[in-house]
Amino acid sequence: MAQPLTVVIFGASGDLTWRKLIPALFNLVQKGKMPPEARFVGVARSEYTDETYRKHLEEKAKEILPGSQFDQAKWDAFAPRVHYVKTDPTQPGGGKPLADWFAANEGGPDGRRLYYFSVSPKYYPAISAAMAEAGLNKSETGYRRLVIEKPFGTDRASAKKLNDSLHKHWDEEQLYRIDHYLGKDTVQNILVFRFANTLFEPLWNAQYIDHVQITVAEKVTVEGRGDYYDGSGVMRDMLQNHILQVLTLVAMEDPNRYTADNLRNEKMKVLSTMVVHPEAKAHKVMALGQYDGYLKVKGVPPDSKTPTYAAVKLELDNRRWHGVPFYIRSGKGLKARYSEVMIQFKCPARLMFPLPEDEILQCNRLKMVIQPNESISLNFQTKVPDVDGVSLKPHNLTFDYKQAYQNQTLPEAYERLLLDAIQGDASLFMRADEIERAWEVMDPLIAAAEHATQQPEKYAVGSAGPTCADKLLDADGRYWQPIG
Ligand code: BG6
Repeated sequence: MAQPLTVVIFGASGDLTWRKLIPALFNLVQKGKMPPEARFVGVARSEYTDETYRKHLEEKAKEILPGSQFDQAKWDAFAPRVHYVKTDPTQPGGGKPLADWFAANEGGPDGRRLYYFSVSPKYYPAISAAMAEAGLNKSETGYRRLVIEKPFGTDRASAKKLNDSLHKHWDEEQLYRIDHYLGKDTVQNILVFRFANTLFEPLWNAQYIDHVQITVAEKVTVEGRGDYYDGSGVMRDMLQNHILQVLTLVAMEDPNRYTADNLRNEKMKVLSTMVVHPEAKAHKVMALGQYDGYLKVKGVPPDSKTPTYAAVKLELDNRRWHGVPFYIRSGKGLKARYSEVMIQFKCPARLMFPLPEDEILQCNRLKMVIQPNESISLNFQTKVPDVDGVSLKPHNLTFDYKQAYQNQTLPEAYERLLLDAIQGDASLFMRADEIERAWEVMDPLIAAAEHATQQPEKYAVGSAGPTCADKLLDADGRYWQPIG
């Protein structure tokens, strides 16, 4: 008989559970990727029974899964594997009902358990303590792993405090800190592209690369999330985690073996070479914006200075990247949902072809589009045919994911991450030191934004962002890749 396997979701009645986690688990079951013995337990304070909880999830699943992905017969086979335990896990003694459930239902002496905190981080220490009190963190022959959602702290000090409080009851190897960007196939493909090909890696350095741009543009606004967002802002919500994680993959060296710790060591090296700009110099490397109308969002104070857009220039003080700026930017309420990494190669040292006076040569650019319309394209100059003399025009050589993999849809990030955590592969999860260092880089910039005397520059919803972001690059004689 297979060793029992249980995925336990704390915060079972919350949004993330029905929006992302249950659909991801359901999809994994449908695809035959989830071991047949796996069961799923929701834990929350709400009054559900197994039956009413299953019903609630079914209604939500029908609401959000596209028709083609919701199959009633498959749901009916999946639902009996879902259970519900009512308790307040933030209170002393709150772990006991779950321990009792395991004693009565696990169906084996010591199973594999993946716990998932899908609750506000302020509850992590209390839930973790209640679990330890009930012995839920220890196992003899199975495993106990804990998946934690962001935000992981609000600065370095709070992240360290949170890490310390978790480490009281859990070893670092038991902790799986989620950054869902690492679960995206197109983000993982950055490493494959770099290290499974010979063409690009020799050029991947300061000798050939002029600068790098990483963009995560969002069309959505903050609507409905004002309370959370105003305390966070774009730097904590997107830059400190998702964008810095993507940056580490673009900039890191290849680990000597592909293991979680080797990989994370290399990512950590990138973060540790990142230049930390003091608060007083932040204005030189950062441009902030706030979309028009943000101050009217429910939960946002009418004089809030929270940025909904930020562009930051980062530098890595190592041999490979010396003198190569990494410009990162993210914003809400922009003209399109569009995430990409753009590598701008240097221009030829000398161009023998005459260019018209007003023309600037568009030098080679490599674009890795993370979403949507996932693709990789290399932009290069061609000769316009049949004209007098030599006239140049840039064109793209493009690889399009959907065309190349027509019968395979890109999975939701949570599917990959849940499966990896079940299988004990922590490669795509953040280690404590990475998170703390990422805060160390962002803390002075966030402080500068918070201590600013002026509001961030306004930008119109549906625009490309504030003009100060253009000026940031303009000052270096560079310009942004258009969004979308
Ligand atoms: C989350 C942020 O981590 O990522 C959200 O809290 C943001 O504000 C979201 O909208 C973006 O994720 P994705 O996968 O839609 O790009």
